[in-house]
Amino acid sequence: MFYTVIPAGGSGTRLWPLSRAGHPKFLHPLTGTDESLLQATVARLAPLAPAERTLVVTGVSHAAAVARQLAGLPEGNILVEPSPRDSCAAIALAAAVIARREPEAVMGSFAADHLIADGAAYVEVLKDAIVGAESGLLMTVGINPTHPETGYGYLQCGDTIDGGPLLRVEEFKEKPSFEVAESYVASGRYRWNAGMFVWRVDVFLAELARQQPQLAAGISRIAAAWDTAEQEDVLGEVWPTLPKISVDYAVMEGAAAAGQVATVSGDFGWNDVGDFHTLGEVLSTDEAGNMVLGGDTSGDKPKVLIRDSSNLVVVPHSGRLVAALGVRDLIVVDTDDAVLVCPRDRAQDVKQLVDELKQRG
Ligand code: GDD
Ligand code: MG
Repeated sequence: MFYTVIPAGGSGTRLWPLSRAGHPKFLHPLTGTDESLLQATVARLAPLAPAERTLVVTGVSHAAAVARQLAGLPEGNILVEPSPRDSCAAIALAAAVIARREPEAVMGSFAADHLIADGAAYVEVLKDAIVGAESGLLMTVGINPTHPETGYGYLQCGDTIDGGPLLRVEEFKEKPSFEVAESYVASGRYRWNAGMFVWRVDVFLAELARQQPQLAAGISRIAAAWDTAEQEDVLGEVWPTLPKISVDYAVMEGAAAAGQVATVSGDFGWNDVGDFHTLGEVLSTDEAGNMVLGGDTSGDKPKVLIRDSSNLVVVPHSGRLVAALGVRDLIVVDTDDAVLVCPRDRAQDVKQLVDELKQRG
């Protein structure tokens, strides 16, 4: 049987001040509808796994909000981690919990905060990935790169497997330098890793044990106590000792080097909505290219008034009126306690602002 796993942590710093540690990106309706990114992710995967086989791994501080947003999930399917230890621990915990139910189950791990334009094509691609996973491969989804993005993983693609839709992955390189990313894109042989993984839980846990023995041993202690009276004690004792590392570095780079990784083409309009400029590109705009997130420009009491302006991204989150006159190519984000104004081509640098704010305390 197939299980959907959604690791939901991280704060999405380039979407500050909307996305905060206390209310991260995946809980926000950045989809152009009322749905949050997390809700859209679960809905999109529903054709592959019902609620009973959908698990979310999230932190204590987000668990209540996640449960509220995903009211259809059984309570026990929200796995709560005591503190963030990055994606490997979260995904490994889900794999081990599933393995207790069904040792050879296939699971897919999907980022909580991506937008997909063509949901039907997406499901078809994942069906190919599931076939690859059943044969014992660690499957990834590869996106044709459009620019040398340094925040992604890169898959060096080799031959097709038996003439089918799966390609061997010869190298997995997480977050290369700009120069290396440039050379990858120019070579035409690399794809972006979409941050989605499909594998048999037993295959993944064996690879974890080979490459990350300490993490694997800790997870297996926690899994052995899962759903018993000792669960909280063991979790509290072992979780803080687990290495803080993402699954890309911890498992995928080494698994690709060992010839265990393959990929399918993700031609379904994938977008990692990491910053406000990208959001403005992806969501629909008015004729002047202005995108207002969740605002109403036409009603009697508009929260936003835009005149003689173009290519704006406006997020009127506080409920106050935001007015713009005679400006272009700007991001304006108004929240209760902070306002961001910056040109669209500086959207990536918002992360630096957040780092500076953190340093100031
Ligand atoms: N539960 C939990 N706990 N989830 C976490 C944690 C954690 O401590 N840290 C990260 N996650 C979740 C995120 O919420 C997201 O759903 C997923 O794990 C990936 O983490 P990100 O922090 O968003 O990773 P990334 O964007 O830097 O890189 C990954 O995604 C890229 C595509 O967007 C990698 O897989 C890259 O290779 C990939 O290109
Ligand atoms: Mg991400």
